[in-house]
Amino acid sequence: MRSVANTMWDPVAFRAAEGDSRDELPVPAPGAASRARSNVPLLETRNLAKRYGGLEAVAGVDLVLSHPITGLIGPNGAGKTTLLNIVSGVERASAGEVRFRGRAIGALPPHRLAALGLVRTFQISRELNSLTVLENLLLARPHQAGESLFGLFARPGRVRREEAAAIETARAALQRVNLWRLADAPAGSLSGGQKKLLELARAVMLAPRLILLDEPAAGVAPAMEEILIDTIRGLAADGVGFLIIEHDLEIIAALCDHVCVMAAGQILTEGSFAEVTADARVVEAYLGLKP
Ligand SMILES: Nc1ncnc2c1ncn2[C@@H]1O[C@H](COP(=O)(O)OP(=O)(O)O)[C@@H](O)[C@H]1O
Ligand SMILES: [Mg+2]
Repeated sequence: MRSVANTMWDPVAFRAAEGDSRDELPVPAPGAASRARSNVPLLETRNLAKRYGGLEAVAGVDLVLSHPITGLIGPNGAGKTTLLNIVSGVERASAGEVRFRGRAIGALPPHRLAALGLVRTFQISRELNSLTVLENLLLARPHQAGESLFGLFARPGRVRREEAAAIETARAALQRVNLWRLADAPAGSLSGGQKKLLELARAVMLAPRLILLDEPAAGVAPAMEEILIDTIRGLAADGVGFLIIEHDLEIIAALCDHVCVMAAGQILTEGSFAEVTADARVVEAYLGLKP
């Protein structure tokens, strides 16, 4: 028998387990990811803009993700969260285009994007806090046959198989983020850092190709930061791309292969962490100083 971990990263097993509807898209081999098809970037925005009344929160952003882990930094109000909201389908752009693996996705809602492999993490809500860690993962998966009464009565065998497969998938996801030993703990009892790991595991349930994170280190104790970094790095090594907004520049330095700096709704500069932090314009944008 295959081990659970292998099943998790075997896309065929994963697709079977979750009743995947992504038949129109090629499935990457584990580990190879979409980097193999390097001519098509995982994510691309063209002249993306978002206006709130007279304020242009995002003012013409061309972003191309071509590294496994990309950081998005910049001062408060730069437009980082707005950009992530648009890419994740939470908000509509005023102008411009977003492409995910070459496909225009500007009009798709979050659940459709998740089905394509573009997943944003969300804080564990109050309702989910009262459920166990494992239950949280089972709720994170896409629609199943057993979710309608008709499905339950018409196809009980299929529902049971789906349940068993979902639990295996959930177990693999929890092992992936080192939370399996807490599977039966209420989500509300987890520390800030463990909750971030649970958010990641919920994203992993959706077989993501790109995960969007908005300030993953916020509320995480220093001792847990390293575990969080290792977990994200491990997922990236398995072929999951990341776009990460983070205030803590040490986290960005430790994680990101590429960093984009945003200020006043635009990409000011991009490059390695060392390159962008050596840029006088970046220091100015952060500190509000004129050189
Ligand atoms: N829903 C909204 N309505 C009006 N203004 C908004 C809204 N969301 C964000 N803004 C404004 O857009 C700008 C960018 O905000 P945001 O994207 O949250 O920046 P960041 O995440 O970089 O701190 C800010 O000036 C903010 O006040
Ligand atoms: Mg923000």
